[in-house]
Amino acid sequence: MSWVRDNTTLTIFQKFCINILKCGPVPNHVAFIMDGNRRYAKKTKVQKAEGHSKGFDKLAECLQWCRELGVKEVTVYAFSIENFKRSREEVDALMQLAREKFQRLFKEKEKLKEEGVCIRVIGNLSLLPEDLRKLIAEATLITKDNTKSILNVAFSYTSREEITHSIKSVVQAVEDNLIQEDDITEEAISACLYTHLSKDPDLLIRTSGEVRLSDFLLWQISNTEICFTDVLWPEFCIWHLLSVIFKYQRSYGVHNLYSLNKQPKIFSSRMNTFIKSIEEKRIAQLEIYSKA
Ligand code: FPP
Ligand code: MG
Repeated sequence: MSWVRDNTTLTIFQKFCINILKCGPVPNHVAFIMDGNRRYAKKTKVQKAEGHSKGFDKLAECLQWCRELGVKEVTVYAFSIENFKRSREEVDALMQLAREKFQRLFKEKEKLKEEGVCIRVIGNLSLLPEDLRKLIAEATLITKDNTKSILNVAFSYTSREEITHSIKSVVQAVEDNLIQEDDITEEAISACLYTHLSKDPDLLIRTSGEVRLSDFLLWQISNTEICFTDVLWPEFCIWHLLSVIFKYQRSYGVHNLYSLNKQPKIFSSRMNTFIKSIEEKRIAQLEIYSKA
């Protein structure tokens, strides 16, 4: 299945409900912990790999629903660093699925450009097999200038690793005299996270009935509405999403108050130069991986 689907699969009633919800506040950024693929595989008596493949199909569907709703940015937890501890067979199957999907993404370059979809992979890419890293780098570089909607795929990711990586980058910048010790602020740490180009999620959804965060976006979700739902990820349907959005809208006042109180930070030119250098380094690293 393609990463970008068109809207032909939505019924008139579904489109009608989406339009009603669009009259209210819609989250700008939604994050998903797509959990329950293996339980789904067990339930439907298929291999685990098939469960994950169904999980990808659901992701593609869900991205379409989000686009229809006007959600500009989506972040998904596709592979945690902890997942490397699973059986060799399952890790290999997940890596193979990723290879196929990123290869496909590369082929869909024109469609992604037309739809304005930018795909970023957040995580420690150095832990991945070299060929997959190359594919990811190639596929993400071709979409980097698209701005209409953004998909962040957390792959080889945990939040603690991300924060540790960020702190190391900040310390290195002080040692290199790019910034000074006084510049070490929350904003400096945020600027060095893998998610530095994104605003924090407004809404986080975890499927499968597990009520945990599993080391996902811990820094970024301090003021995010969190919704846990019992449905297994491959069975998540448009009505689950719409009901979560409806609930989000009902508690919107509180969130809105928080964002109104949050003043945009004005940085010194030294900090601005540093922040710019972080993004330049990310692109340079992707270019190295893509040419490997
Ligand atoms: C959690 O379910 C899901 C995963 C560890 C993998 C999620 C990956 C996808 C949906 C495919 C995405 C692929 C790309 C290339 C973006 P689980 O395995 O923990 O299932 P369980 O909770 O039932 O054991
Ligand atoms: Mg799980």
